[in-house]
Amino acid sequence: MAAAPLIDSFGRVHDNLRISVTDRCNIRCFYCMPETDVHFVRRSEILDFEEIERFARIAVTLGIRKLRITGGEPLVRRDLPVLIRRLSAIPGVEDLALTTNGVLLPQLAEPLYEAGLRRMNVHLDTIDRARFLQITRRDDIDKVLAGLEVSKKLGFKVKLNAVAVKNLVEPDIVPLARYARENGFEVRYIEFMPLDAQNLWDRSKVLLADDIIAALSREIAPLIPVPDPDPRAPASEYQFADGGGRVGFIASVSRPFCLNCNRVRLTADGKLRYCLFAVEEDDVKALLRSGASDEEIAALVRRNIAGKWEGHEINSTRFVAPPRPMYSIGG
Ligand code: 5AD
Ligand code: SF4
Repeated sequence: MAAAPLIDSFGRVHDNLRISVTDRCNIRCFYCMPETDVHFVRRSEILDFEEIERFARIAVTLGIRKLRITGGEPLVRRDLPVLIRRLSAIPGVEDLALTTNGVLLPQLAEPLYEAGLRRMNVHLDTIDRARFLQITRRDDIDKVLAGLEVSKKLGFKVKLNAVAVKNLVEPDIVPLARYARENGFEVRYIEFMPLDAQNLWDRSKVLLADDIIAALSREIAPLIPVPDPDPRAPASEYQFADGGGRVGFIASVSRPFCLNCNRVRLTADGKLRYCLFAVEEDDVKALLRSGASDEEIAALVRRNIAGKWEGHEINSTRFVAPPRPMYSIGG
């Protein structure tokens, strides 16, 4: 198949595919899920491993080089290491990573490593038990910390994702950064985005990157911006002046990075989304399950990217929250 890259009408080249493997999750972070009455997709609606692998192979012919597995919580998907092995074996996949809440890492870190995974982002907002319970509504911090320990020993490259919610996590910022420095992990603070299932978000609840930078610089060591080798990566990277590691900021609200976006997403139920905040999506599953050819599926991907908007408008009054919350998109 011809290998013209996936370029949208703003000239952005897409080489990054995020694949959600389930919308289910074993914890209930308030900025993503409601506490009760979560509506999950029926299992028969979720793509199977053959379908995911086929789609990934087609995407690679279109210039996709980086894959990230997300959820919901991807580790609750049965036999995930089998999928990891299959995806990491696809010629042309240069980078394969996973975003997880870490609760199942004590038992799964090793099989994942054996399957070829080397990089993970582990969601951790705090190292304080009470706050972890308050945020996730589950008392599972020991499992996450044990899973991180195992992952470190195995040699995984680990980043910690911390969602920055104002008037909530301020006391956790510095202890989390210290824990990460001691363990060789990099924290990425993600500004709270309007993707929660209960419409709790508003601008005043976002803890901004600049405020976190000020706190870390004051309490730990000055932070120096690192020129990014990949200008399309969404995180702004900083280095502690004392050489004690890095931190990153995904500042979707205060420093939107849509101009550099290189990502496209496949949801667990087989829908293609050109943006986290997209309000429209294309039905890949319908094609996969109706005997469509690889060329037809590739054409759908091209059309989706060709129609990609310039960016989300979180900072404008025109912003509309997407109809799906975070757990059903995949982060
Ligand atoms: N705003 C910002 N980040 C969020 N995440 C989940 N919900 C939100 C939100 N409303 C993050 C979690 C997870 C990643 C996929 O997205 O940290 O690790
Ligand atoms: Fe689960 Fe991730 Fe949503 Fe938290 S943010 S409830 S870990 S899917």
